[in-house]
Amino acid sequence: MSHSEFPYFRGRRLRAGENIRRMVAEHSLSASDFIAPLFVMVGTGGKAAIPSMPGYFRFTLDMVLKEAEEIQNLGIPAVLLFAKVPDEKKDNKGTEALKPDGLMQQAVRAIKKEFPDLVVMTDVALDPYSSYGHDGIVKEGQIVNDESAELLAKMAVSHAEAGADFVAPSDMMDGRILMIREALEDDAFHQTGIMAYSAKYASSYYGPFRDALDSAPGFGDKKTYQMDPANITEAINEAILDEKEGADIIMVKPGLPYLDVVRAVKEAVHVPVSVYNVSGEYAMIKAAAEKGWLNEEHAMMEALIAFKRAGADLIATYFAKDAARLL
Ligand code: PBG
Repeated sequence: MSHSEFPYFRGRRLRAGENIRRMVAEHSLSASDFIAPLFVMVGTGGKAAIPSMPGYFRFTLDMVLKEAEEIQNLGIPAVLLFAKVPDEKKDNKGTEALKPDGLMQQAVRAIKKEFPDLVVMTDVALDPYSSYGHDGIVKEGQIVNDESAELLAKMAVSHAEAGADFVAPSDMMDGRILMIREALEDDAFHQTGIMAYSAKYASSYYGPFRDALDSAPGFGDKKTYQMDPANITEAINEAILDEKEGADIIMVKPGLPYLDVVRAVKEAVHVPVSVYNVSGEYAMIKAAAEKGWLNEEHAMMEALIAFKRAGADLIATYFAKDAARLL
């Protein structure tokens, strides 16, 4: 009988009280782990509730500054910006996405001016700007790759010109990280980083986000560019390719149903890994808590620590402010 077995070894000794549990905790959360998504809309003096994302809002440009200030004061180092574009400004060539005074560009400039230290990341994809609600350009019912990637590279440069610290391509076109990196280098944006959505799955968990931006695909689905939930080897390949193409941070998305992918990607790349705790994951916890079916704070913190345990270095989450307040 070895002394590392019962009755000599007892795992409960290390669980006996709050302090010893804290001492042996293998992972921890801090506000520095979080990236707070921010939805921007046109207008002034307003914020709009998103029914499928209770407690989350879209902000007009002036109000988004207040929100950014709160985020910064909570010790959260980064925001990830998304623009809600009015329908009449949507087309099939990203006109609004490229405008130097577009909503996204204005938001970046305003936030960087007031809060120069806050890390500003921008979503790069066409869907909020597309009359078809797709992430790329549509031709004869297909989402064309190379032309879309070229346009996304222009969009990334436009965000960099506005002052974005990181661009975050969420479109899943092939080769776009390389094209974006080269476009940034050509325009001397050597310091602008890329957070690549490398393993982004065709997921039903994006539903509430598409409500928030009114960006649901007008025809078909996104399965010709976003990944099949059945696959993990492919995710590792996508992550390795994006690292080679110049990504500074590799993202896995969604989060909770894909923790195995987070772990596998973390072990495959040598840059920080982020995970996106997406809108549907937020909505599930919120809805169950509203019904009194689970404790919101506990469920939230358990989900967030699970990302750290899986290997994520950074977590983009709608819970960022709530969690930072608790920490
Ligand atoms: C757009 C984009 C989406 C999300 C982030 N960027 C939606 C989609 O691909 O349809 C989802 C975020 C969330 O659900 O919280 N390319």
